[in-house]
Amino acid sequence: MPVTFTLNGKPQTVDVSPQMPLLWVLRDSLGMTGTKFGCGMALCGCCTVHINGQPIRSCVTPISTVAGKSVTTIEGLSSDNSHPVQRAWIEVDVPQCGYCQSGQIMTAVGLLKKTAHPTDADIDEAMHGNICRCGTYQAIRHAVHLAAQYQAAANRNATVAQNVAEGDAA
Ligand code: FES
Ligand code: FES
Repeated sequence: MPVTFTLNGKPQTVDVSPQMPLLWVLRDSLGMTGTKFGCGMALCGCCTVHINGQPIRSCVTPISTVAGKSVTTIEGLSSDNSHPVQRAWIEVDVPQCGYCQSGQIMTAVGLLKKTAHPTDADIDEAMHGNICRCGTYQAIRHAVHLAAQYQAAANRNATVAQNVAEGDAA
């Protein structure tokens, strides 16, 4: 059954079983291997992507439910690791084996969309479903705080640029 959705800002159609998990479609049909398979049961968070801006577990999301929606994967955050969360992850040097990290990052991006300056408790609550065998939890907490600073700076710069542009146009 053809299913059409938006993937990282571009229209995408796949012709697969309606029950096929989104994770399988991403990895096996579309060759987008940034999103990982861990448990297959919505228990580990490795497979986290966004649908319409909300973090979800792609291993238990049938592709039929994605029709007409917007999917964002780790590949869609930026083409050059310039997203504030990616920059912070690199600066803090969070990953160990790396396996869980795309899911961790996608969950962190979702948190910062809702809560621009999360507390430690906010971070622990948002991230608790993302398991890391390598125990990078303290580094993740540090990186989320740093990403919040990067995001705030980027927003300030965007506001200044907009004001300059509007001033030029006036
Ligand atoms: S692979 Fe989806 S939550 Fe573990
Ligand atoms: S960095 Fe190895 S599982 Fe998280």
